[in-house]
Amino acid sequence: MGVRKEREPLKRRELFMSPPHAGKDFWREAMNCSVNKIESNIRVFKDLYPGPAGVGNRYPLIKNTDWTSSFWPGMLFLAWEHTGNDLYRRAGEARVADFRERLDRRIETGTHDLGFLYTLSCVAPWRLFGNATARETAIMAADMLLLRRHEKAGVIQAWGDLNDPRQRGRVIIDCAMNLPLLYWAGEETGEPRYREVAVKHINIANAFLIREDWSTFHTYFFDADTGSPIRGNTAQGYSDASCWARGQAWGIYGNALSYRYLRDPALLEIARGLARYFLNRLPEDLVAYWDLIFLQVSEERDSSAAAIAVCGLLELSDGLDAKDPDKEAFKNAAQHIAASLAASYTTRESLESTGLLLHGVYSKPDKKGVDECAIFGDYFYMECLTRLCRVWEPYW
Ligand code: GLY
Repeated sequence: MGVRKEREPLKRRELFMSPPHAGKDFWREAMNCSVNKIESNIRVFKDLYPGPAGVGNRYPLIKNTDWTSSFWPGMLFLAWEHTGNDLYRRAGEARVADFRERLDRRIETGTHDLGFLYTLSCVAPWRLFGNATARETAIMAADMLLLRRHEKAGVIQAWGDLNDPRQRGRVIIDCAMNLPLLYWAGEETGEPRYREVAVKHINIANAFLIREDWSTFHTYFFDADTGSPIRGNTAQGYSDASCWARGQAWGIYGNALSYRYLRDPALLEIARGLARYFLNRLPEDLVAYWDLIFLQVSEERDSSAAAIAVCGLLELSDGLDAKDPDKEAFKNAAQHIAASLAASYTTRESLESTGLLLHGVYSKPDKKGVDECAIFGDYFYMECLTRLCRVWEPYW
């Protein structure tokens, strides 16, 4: 952990002084188009779930076993909020029982992604409809997430068995998005332990995952027995020294969401530094390459990183003071990126595709889902459109 440099000035401040020519009607039309696809996907997916990434821009269908299963019910709930049509509510709430069974039978629950999984599948229907089974299930998931904490190191292990020597003591930047489940459970139950674990994790993770120049490591290892930091590396980025675009976007959004709960100004300042670094490394059309090491080269874009960053920038902008010059800049930047996605990255011309956004990258080093639809990109695209269409209470 070194001393962080001064944050970079925002390179496109001039462009981000005003929003794009896209009013509420533009965002609503983009959302209508997404909801049409959701309606037809209800018939295609039936009781199964879209896999994390497309194959030829169609999702393989799987059981509720991956870290990404909750993005589908999350999209159904957003479709309900947009239309008020009970078709989407019924289809979304019908999944609660399945997520309860997954927890009861411990099906692929050895992951910090319990946060992604149970926030969208269960916290959302509790918040929207007062679904009591969903509330109870989400609290059980939060309890299970607490079991992944290493007491001495004060962090939540990302992947695998806590005693697996390849994964022991490893944290990843994505975990910032799993913490809202703990904050929420703390508020629901009145028990401070959920929040305490989350606060400790975000502070330690930020101290080591964020480099001196405000770029991020994807993952970082700690000695779980002594708590000593070991080293940062990557799993899905270009190299250990580069900055994986989606990781940076998870960091922006996750820190802005932690600020929503904790009101610690240091978290906003961290999100600001990550956001400036991200925005300064975008190509002309503002949709990031899959790793921010690439600036103007022929590499794949990651539209999912762009959609997540839009949500993060909007959340961050909301948190900033009215007089803060970045407040409008981040909000406008978010809209410029979203407009670029809506104009040039959607499947609206393709009846065949079951995805919403083209040109995502799941994991280039693993050759998985490269230049494909990605279900998390689709979810966050709908979430960012929702945020641009209306005042929205986050599920997170
Ligand atoms: N959280 C895993 C990913 O973003 O691919």
